[in-house]
Amino acid sequence: MNLLFIGDIVGRPGRDLIRQGLAGLVDRFAIDFVIANGENAAAGFGITREIGEELLARGVDVLTSGNHIWDKKEAIDYIGTEPRLLRPANYPAGVPGRGSYVGRTAQGRAVAVINVMGRVHMPPLDNPFTVVLQEVQAARERTPIVFVDFHAEATSEKIAMGWHLDGRVTAVIGTHTHVQTADERILPGGTAYLTDVGMTGPHDGIIGVERGPALARFLTAMPSRFETASGDPRLNAVVIDADDASGRARSIERIALTRDALVELGAPSEREAPVR
Ligand code: FE2
Repeated sequence: MNLLFIGDIVGRPGRDLIRQGLAGLVDRFAIDFVIANGENAAAGFGITREIGEELLARGVDVLTSGNHIWDKKEAIDYIGTEPRLLRPANYPAGVPGRGSYVGRTAQGRAVAVINVMGRVHMPPLDNPFTVVLQEVQAARERTPIVFVDFHAEATSEKIAMGWHLDGRVTAVIGTHTHVQTADERILPGGTAYLTDVGMTGPHDGIIGVERGPALARFLTAMPSRFETASGDPRLNAVVIDADDASGRARSIERIALTRDALVELGAPSEREAPVR
């Protein structure tokens, strides 16, 4: 089966890319299951019920998140009612929401999605390396197809997680930095790995926000209010082909498309146009 994982959807520019291009992408890559990180979907910070419902209605099967999951207060209630919206599994016990979900493809195949968050240059949560093993064990009792979104800053921590889970899961894909890395590979045990899938949103700012205020913070060390950037919208994603029976990844392909390229990819080609 083919899994599509879409990198951090940032604000309206990111949501517009989903609206304009997801159906075409699913068609072109024969996608069976769509996962997307949505923690920045609401104006760059957090997610609301309305936006979560919109993304799920447009074809996303599971939404993952990270440190920004609580930015919009309503997410605390929403996550309790929507099992397809995940927060990192290594938040302390008793925190609202869940860190994993098992969905089904149109053909009825089960796909487990697990979300964990790193601790290097990140808020101090429970140990993701031990928590993820419990989640993986529970998931593998239900399906061999197990996808992990590791939301983390440090490349070392992410690569360590890839090796930690090699042979135990279908894929370990990083999020949070908003910068796509070029180190995709299939590890020896059959786990697809990529340090960071990147960002689906405006690429002319500083990781999704307008350059001016972000640069001012570096220049003055004073607080400044960030607004979502708008220019150069691009979709960053990854497609993983997994063996249904074993859960091993067969291939991993990185996707980085401008809006024009995305829309063109989804448009029927001349060859497919009706003959008159
Ligand atoms: Fe994040």
